[in-house]
Amino acid sequence: MPAEPCVNTPVPGADQYYPLNTPDIGEAFPPELYARNKDLPKLFQPLTLKGVTFKNRIFVSPMCQYSSDYGHATDWHLVHLGGYATRGVGAICIEASAVVPEGRISPEDAGLWTDSQIAPLQRIVNFVHAQGTKIGIQLAHAGRKASTLAPWVHSNAPRTKVAKSQVAHEDENGWPDQVYGPSEIPFASDYPKPKAMTEEDIQYVEDAFVSAVERCKKIGFDFIELHMAHGYLFHSFLSPLSNVRSDVYGGPALENRLRFPLRAAARVRSVWADKPLFVRISATDWAEGPEKGEDGVWKQWGIEQSKVFVGECEKIGVDLIDCSSGGNWAAQKITVGEGYQVPFAEALKKAHPNMIVGAVGMITLPRSAESFLSSGKADVVFLARELIRNPHWALTAAKELGVAVKPANQYERGWAELVIRH
Ligand SMILES: Cc1cc2nc3c(=O)[nH]c(=O)nc-3n(C[C@H](O)[C@H](O)[C@H](O)COP(=O)(O)O)c2cc1C
Repeated sequence: MPAEPCVNTPVPGADQYYPLNTPDIGEAFPPELYARNKDLPKLFQPLTLKGVTFKNRIFVSPMCQYSSDYGHATDWHLVHLGGYATRGVGAICIEASAVVPEGRISPEDAGLWTDSQIAPLQRIVNFVHAQGTKIGIQLAHAGRKASTLAPWVHSNAPRTKVAKSQVAHEDENGWPDQVYGPSEIPFASDYPKPKAMTEEDIQYVEDAFVSAVERCKKIGFDFIELHMAHGYLFHSFLSPLSNVRSDVYGGPALENRLRFPLRAAARVRSVWADKPLFVRISATDWAEGPEKGEDGVWKQWGIEQSKVFVGECEKIGVDLIDCSSGGNWAAQKITVGEGYQVPFAEALKKAHPNMIVGAVGMITLPRSAESFLSSGKADVVFLARELIRNPHWALTAAKELGVAVKPANQYERGWAELVIRH
């Protein structure tokens, strides 16, 4: 029998030559090859949602880079996101990307409001797919927190230079007079004063989300996440602290505050029917006092209303809730620590056992990440800052948990210990 030719197999169908990884980078080897993979930690068990299989449960949390060219991704994004694809994460969620220009947080935020923004994103998606990694995008509208300065423009690292306010004024590429929210309540005194959205404004934003989804289809994303957290537009509609409207979109009635976010999510679901839809929420405003007063009136956004909201999201077919917190109340007081937001994810999971729930927030240690998943508190973990510090986190986690996973062919010599058969 002739010997099989030994070739450096290319990734089939890729637009450039890339060596094929078998299995994918960050995927556990079959137990027939590595007996130690017989009982895989949850972190490395695949997850399939709407026919999309994530090879492990380590997801890159969306991270604004303040580096876009009028909403267009650049090669910074290719390198930043591409670096995660070559280092074994299960999924990458691209940063908050505005569906209308005035929905950017800062002038250099990412966007998906026009067709010219498709090509640079498609290039990133093609690269990430060629490395066997799933990639999606967080669609967003910053609401009353729009037109603000990028962090390092607001204050430099040694803090020898600090801007007087958060606002990006017109001569700083901002649009402070076109900032919108549910009510005319600014996030803080040094933020722009929002205009209360009219019915027409609400429709316009909803339509913009639908148009952005159409662009997502052309780009070939594997999933979409709707940003409904951190005090941005949808969260500000959900919370009674920021939404004091007296029409069908607001006020004390929970049903009214849910209306716009839910309708937008349902419309997105109807046009993004075949692939996973994630929703990121803030499970609490972290304001002082209870979520509901003794008078029975909701005082701030919290876990009880979040449970109701997630139940409604489940009904319209949302596939995953990415559970964050805060960002809507400037005086929030948060006690942080390893996995500090996991109890919220756990509460949502308990209330809605069939919903896939993601935990995020200071998840840094592989063993604690694994314990959150194996104890059923959440189904996946999203990491941000730890992945900035250590983009190889998935591989280091595999090493620590004793799992044999595939490093990129090109990097294998740095990970010999990970793939050694013993
Ligand atoms: C640089 C940076 C940019 C961020 N940008 C976004 C964003 O675009 N959308 C979002 O929902 N959260 C954003 N976040 C929040 C993270 O996704 C994450 O929820 C938060 O940092 C807590 O996780 P961590 O402790 O792993 O960093 C950002 C965080 C960082 C550090």
